[in-house]
Amino acid sequence: MYHSRISGVGYYVPERIVTNHDLAKIMDTSDEWIQERTGIQRRRHVDPKDGETTSGMGVKAARMAMADAGKSASDIDFVVFATLSPDYYFPGPGVTLQEALGLETVGALDVRNQCSGFIYALSVADQFIKTGMYQNVLVVGAELQSKGLDMTTRGRNVSVIFGDGAGAVVLSRDDRSGFGILSTHLHAEGSWAKELSVIAPGMGQRWVTDILADNNPLDESYFPYMNGQLVFKNAVVRFEEVIREALAANELSQSAIDLLIPHQANLRIAQFIQKKFQLSDDQVYNNIMEYGNTTAASIPIALAEAHQKGKIKEGDLVVLAAFGSGFTWGSALIRW
Ligand code: UT7
Repeated sequence: MYHSRISGVGYYVPERIVTNHDLAKIMDTSDEWIQERTGIQRRRHVDPKDGETTSGMGVKAARMAMADAGKSASDIDFVVFATLSPDYYFPGPGVTLQEALGLETVGALDVRNQCSGFIYALSVADQFIKTGMYQNVLVVGAELQSKGLDMTTRGRNVSVIFGDGAGAVVLSRDDRSGFGILSTHLHAEGSWAKELSVIAPGMGQRWVTDILADNNPLDESYFPYMNGQLVFKNAVVRFEEVIREALAANELSQSAIDLLIPHQANLRIAQFIQKKFQLSDDQVYNNIMEYGNTTAASIPIALAEAHQKGKIKEGDLVVLAAFGSGFTWGSALIRW
């Protein structure tokens, strides 16, 4: 059995900053409401004139991660790309990124696990490395959500939360046992699938032709729906559970945690988890205030930023954890 460690991190966010005050000009919301409920002050949205795409942002983050790892295109054996906002209905953005980076004919896998997407993607990459199949896997989480949000008062409980951006890591084979990815833990509970979802266009309920045929301006089926309170209640329980599961699997106590990087869903959720694990402000990395919730991109953006700011030292125990649509949730324990 081989070991895997994160050898490089990178991220990219679009330049265009959208503040809570900007949103209050186009829908019935306020800076006070958004900050009080979510902690978000601003987020990044692509500028439609720039032609940015999910895969394009992923490429920028991936280039940074590869440079950080000192790896060139010929070193990368496989790509795992997590997103809920792909460029096309199919194929997924993994192949677009693979082509743009000149990764010859290496395999490219797309992961559709929304807010937990990056943890799922990291876990897949980890298995490929631990079994010896690959030496360097590029793991990307990227989202372009702003184009698909209902930016009217009708969609305000969702649209004020989400932002655009991308993060990436290179996961590499490592000889040292006890370092790198110690374990990953993945869960799902499909009975809640519709409680945080975009149901159309899909073959199950409404395809594009149905939407066009109905031509109904009140149609909300292609905008995200979120039962916010239900998601919140489940999130706080599952975050704690899956972090405890990871600690127990490695026979570690909560006092061993050096840094927790939770999926940036809501600052109030992160603060709740912080309290549960009795962590100081320095032991939890949050940047939702700046970027909003970037779904599959939020953990790799936060990880890259925290690393860039010198908040992760060699030997630190870093915990990643996520919860979101599906419902799906997961954690990864890393000895840096
Ligand atoms: O990353 C995926 C996982 N997602 C999450 O973890 C999100 C979890 N959920 C949440 O973070 C919270 O549920 C929200 C922040 C989304 C919403 O907060 P809430 O305290 O659950 O609010 P609510 O949906 O119960 O709405 C309370 C009130 C309602 O008005 P009334 O019916 O009390 O008059 C909403 O219409 O707030 C209203 N409201 C807003 N007001 C101003 C909803 N959205 C907004 C808004 N601005 N953007």
